[in-house]
Amino acid sequence: MKRRSFLKNAAFLTAAASAAPVLAGCRREETGGEDSRLSVARNFRYGPDGTFTVLQLTDTHYIAGDPRSARALDNVCEMLDAEHPDLVIHTGDIVFGHPDIPSAQEILRPIADRGIPFAVALGNHDSQFGATREEMYRIIREIPGCVNLPPKEGVYGCSNDVITLSGPGGVDRALYLFDSMDAVILKGEEEIHCYDYIRFSQLEWYRDHSAKFTAENGGTPVPSLAFFHIPLCEVTEGLSNGGNILAGENGEPPCPSRLNSGLLAQMRELGDIQAIVNGHDHDCDYVLDYGQMYYIYGRFSGCDTTYNHLGPSGARVFQFTQGARPFRTWVRLQGGEIRQDLVLDR
Ligand SMILES: [Fe+2]
Repeated sequence: MKRRSFLKNAAFLTAAASAAPVLAGCRREETGGEDSRLSVARNFRYGPDGTFTVLQLTDTHYIAGDPRSARALDNVCEMLDAEHPDLVIHTGDIVFGHPDIPSAQEILRPIADRGIPFAVALGNHDSQFGATREEMYRIIREIPGCVNLPPKEGVYGCSNDVITLSGPGGVDRALYLFDSMDAVILKGEEEIHCYDYIRFSQLEWYRDHSAKFTAENGGTPVPSLAFFHIPLCEVTEGLSNGGNILAGENGEPPCPSRLNSGLLAQMRELGDIQAIVNGHDHDCDYVLDYGQMYYIYGRFSGCDTTYNHLGPSGARVFQFTQGARPFRTWVRLQGGEIRQDLVLDR
């Protein structure tokens, strides 16, 4: 049937530093302070009604000037205007061809035009069409509204960031973004090409943040979600080992790295992550409940530049309520249909 063409070379980190963008006229946010390894990309406040809404776009696979991309641009605009999110998180594969930099600027522009803050967790295809991963990330960070910080020195990848939501008592939710990178070649008796995996330096970065938030929260882990492009290999295990798909479509097997990164074990030990949110597998948009963790796919937000068999494009929405551990999620489709309206209470 389909399957994404396999990967090109993995890009490696060189720290690119530029000043964080200033977002004019944007509500519910505070600056994260000085850039350092443990900086928070942005701290947001809940709205007057006590909620905060995140729109997840994923796999727009945009190609500027290609008529097959028109529907992706329409979809992004429709999702933004229907949901009026407080924050957009794009979980990668933003672009899918030449010219890659203008493509990224064009598909993210509707977010900036509406004055909505956004963050990205880059996908495997975002550094395969000319620009290096660092160049692509730097250009995206220059778009007004982008809250991503510069790459952290010594932390693998570019788009590793944490965003916090605060109530009167301080931080009560964290949203982690990891860079799941592109591909890696494992050298052994034979070369094995596979998707990259979350590296130890990223685990360490996450652990340090998590421990800090837990300490500041009187020893109780702060409810958190993790967003990144390529799913963990535990999704495959969950599907074959009694995991329960609560809602959504399962149109293809997961395509994770062949290497277990240890990220899930780290999350379990720290006790803060309620859900892992991915893109990458375009024909999946389900919520899997397995082993005290929710594995959630976004809804394919792209167009006909790549494989997609779910029907209408769309986006996934997350709604968080101040002081409440449960969160709500649903999928919005182009045309207005709402699916999978769930309250996840772990
Ligand atoms: Fe993709």
